[in-house]
Amino acid sequence: MTSILLLSGPNLDELGIRSPEIYGTTSLDQHVERSTALAQQHGFTVVHLQSNFEGELVEAIHAARGVHDAIIINPGALGHYSWSLRDALDAFPGTRIEVHLSNPAGREDFRRTSTLANVVNGTIAGFGSQSYDLAIEAVARLLSA
Ligand code: DQA
Repeated sequence: MTSILLLSGPNLDELGIRSPEIYGTTSLDQHVERSTALAQQHGFTVVHLQSNFEGELVEAIHAARGVHDAIIINPGALGHYSWSLRDALDAFPGTRIEVHLSNPAGREDFRRTSTLANVVNGTIAGFGSQSYDLAIEAVARLLSA
């Protein structure tokens, strides 16, 4: 069965209460629940990990090799400056999608940099909860292509 590792970076455990005017009022658990339900419709399983620690995310990506077919990652702010996350993803042999609830390209200057952009299949940003839906759909299409 196709398995997706869904990774959530720093501060995403605060979704629902953190800057709701930007990120909405949906909690991370609710995003994960919704993504998992959609993934199941495609016959996929989802394993989720949230961490506020860069190294823990790097280790999860290492451990994903040979276990998961795809990684969907919302790196939070790490996506703007983490080269170790970038290198770990680069070495992962499966499908890789970067996802953001907001549209970082339309926000502060520091958010316009993505260290992950050139090691992912694509980035989905700016669609709120639907960013996760679109990421699952992207995995489905890429794996069936
Ligand atoms: C975010 C965008 C990042 O710039 C920010 O640091 C986050 C959330 C998003 O989902 O829109 O933590 O990744």
